[in-house]
Amino acid sequence: MKIQFPDGFHRGTATAAYQIEGSPKADGKGESIWDRFSHTPGRIATGENGDVTCDSYRRFREDRKLMQAMHNTSYRFSIGWPRIQPEGRGAPLAAGLDHYGRVVDDLLEAGIRPFPTLYHWDLPQALQDRGGWANRDTAFRFADYAHHVAQALGDRVDDWILLNEPSVFTTMGYAIGIHAPGLIDTDAFFRATHTANLAQGEGARAVRSVRADLRVGSVPAFSPCEPAGDSEADATAAERFHRFTNAWYLDPALHGRYPEGFMDEIPLERMGVQEGDLELTRFGPDFIGVNLYVRTCVRAEPEDPWGVGGRPVGMGGTVGPRTDFGWEIWPDAMHDMLVRLTKDYDRPALEVTESGCSFGDAPDPSDGRIRDQRRIDYYRDTLVAVHRAIQAGADVRGYHAWTLMDNFEWAEGTRQRFGLAWVDFETGTRTLKESGDWYGRVAAENGFET
Ligand code: FCB
Repeated sequence: MKIQFPDGFHRGTATAAYQIEGSPKADGKGESIWDRFSHTPGRIATGENGDVTCDSYRRFREDRKLMQAMHNTSYRFSIGWPRIQPEGRGAPLAAGLDHYGRVVDDLLEAGIRPFPTLYHWDLPQALQDRGGWANRDTAFRFADYAHHVAQALGDRVDDWILLNEPSVFTTMGYAIGIHAPGLIDTDAFFRATHTANLAQGEGARAVRSVRADLRVGSVPAFSPCEPAGDSEADATAAERFHRFTNAWYLDPALHGRYPEGFMDEIPLERMGVQEGDLELTRFGPDFIGVNLYVRTCVRAEPEDPWGVGGRPVGMGGTVGPRTDFGWEIWPDAMHDMLVRLTKDYDRPALEVTESGCSFGDAPDPSDGRIRDQRRIDYYRDTLVAVHRAIQAGADVRGYHAWTLMDNFEWAEGTRQRFGLAWVDFETGTRTLKESGDWYGRVAAENGFET
């Protein structure tokens, strides 16, 4: 069967500043929570940090060459907040803005759309020292920072992403403590979720104040929630979990209200919601970014301390094969989520902003080729699912594979390789894997034969 994407459909890859840039002190950059966290013994499984990783702060032109080799039309990257405001406030650093200006120009010259994310988890440590996302002031700091960046790049960049996966950075960072800043504090977690929603609204207005026609969206972490078993209780728990994860950063942005994701009332007071806040969270996104890796199978759990009354059983269900990270491979999840968003939110413009898999690839000693057939299978099946969703009516504008090249995978260090290109972390050399060659052919034709 021939899979053909619509004309103008973007094919690209995604990365994040802390995961690829290195150069933690270059040009006056301040310390981020990930610099602090990764230098804290015991936090990163491999004992690594992001001081060098892919060295992309200096080698971004090599990254762009990989994109060209893959015929990509879009690149989602993130801007490091501490490179612009080392302390998270005050006048912006010209050197930081100039750096991203060069990245943007370089992409434009190559015919690749720059698609920046303003926040991909590297909060200035100075703001963390004042409570980070648990402090509502961070939302207003974020808007100020967003304004500086949009002012510098808004003449050349049309599409902007505010936050990457607020449910993940609040849960992992404040509730479970396995990502920066490493806290286990349910109250702080609840407040952080609300600050993130405020940041989206305030950030969007700050970007649009520079140029009214800039397109602004955000990127929740999506995962279709399914009941783990046959019981009615699992089914209602799955729906509540869907609201507390998938809809939690959408309903405020679109409708100025939180969805009913709890067994009891929405804990607005615990979240620190003040009079007039809900109106501030609403900004009418121009598109919804979709990061999606797994489905979530939810089991009812009346004693759950969050009050949602359900818990996921793991990374995905128990039926499909798994990546080497242990995440279930379930391509239908992509189709199901895109179709549900289309139905629930009146056919919004959607951009798949991340989708990918980690395998323990290695160059073949005989010829140095990286033969990652399982990744090719993953992308083929996932792109078929995207295409099916488009045929079912979803308005999907682009697809970004996670990720351009192997990089620093947060608390896992470099041992989880998600890249379409292999990175030798000793030398920084990048080599397209067979999946990268395959993805390039798909991008060149805007489709493929199954
Ligand atoms: C997502 C993150 C991204 C990367 C992938 C594997 O949750 O947004 O930075 O770590 O997972």
